[in-house]
Amino acid sequence: MPKPVLLVTRKLPDAIEARASRDYDARLNPQDEMWATDGAEIARRAQEVGAAGILGAAGDALNTACIEALPESVKVIATFSVGFDHIDIAAAKARGIVVVNTPEVLSFATAETAFTLMLMAARRAGEGERMVRAGQWKGWAPTQLLGVTLEGKKLGILGFGRIGRELAAMARGFRMEIHYRDIQKLPPEVEQGAIYHDNEDSFLGAINIISMHVPGGDANRHWLNAERIAKMKKGSLVVNSGRGVSVHDESLIAALKSGHIRAAGLDVYDGEPKVNPGYLTLANVALLPHLGSATIEVRDAMGNRALENLDAVLLTGTAPPHRVA
Ligand code: DGY
Repeated sequence: MPKPVLLVTRKLPDAIEARASRDYDARLNPQDEMWATDGAEIARRAQEVGAAGILGAAGDALNTACIEALPESVKVIATFSVGFDHIDIAAAKARGIVVVNTPEVLSFATAETAFTLMLMAARRAGEGERMVRAGQWKGWAPTQLLGVTLEGKKLGILGFGRIGRELAAMARGFRMEIHYRDIQKLPPEVEQGAIYHDNEDSFLGAINIISMHVPGGDANRHWLNAERIAKMKKGSLVVNSGRGVSVHDESLIAALKSGHIRAAGLDVYDGEPKVNPGYLTLANVALLPHLGSATIEVRDAMGNRALENLDAVLLTGTAPPHRVA
């Protein structure tokens, strides 16, 4: 039996490429060329190689036109990400194409990134690093680059899923008070003392820091806008390691300029890899390049998870454990 053809859209960790090549007729992308941002090109390549599966990633243009143009041979799309807002799920369902993702394994690492951003914003770490690198540091001073402590602050977690809960666990170690907003109140064993808000006004008014953990897509587009920012306390912090689309950049930039928002830490951007130029000249925003799950351990785990799901569909004919469509 010939091995099923697997079209891999991005360069993946060595161990994952080795496993994919062992079990599939894998068409890899060793130079990490960026052709998958073009949905028509994904479909063209899938047709050319007769792909049975596509192992894609966040940022791939698996949109309606792409999915409709995929050849009949494609049975499954695995995304090397927990987020699947870059995939038209309805179109995949209509074509009978299974879609799988890589949840759980990246929750801690993504929460670590959120915590890194929270500390960077609170303690002005980016400003300090830039000062030292620029040779502008004149020595210790009693009033230099004073930030705010996280201790005792009220952390508002928007979306109390796996990543939000990992962040809460970390924040308890910093003696923060955890508040959250989600579709519904969660059981006490999940809350672990976190305070639920059944409406956004009480949530926004209670907190000193918001950390965004909501999915991308239209439902949360520009959720954090001028109106909601105005409901937050003056001097609050904003952290986003979820999806860039959930923040209205112009509103956040205006609030960072006025000081209503003291500082922000961002890992994701609306329209990334483009970053709103308004952020680039502001000292009080820490900017990371979508590092959320970027650890050696986690990227291997994500690859193995994606392959387990592909194996179920393409090799063993069993139910994939992480099916989203
Ligand atoms: C995800 O998994 O959705 C991340 O944002 C990509 O690392």
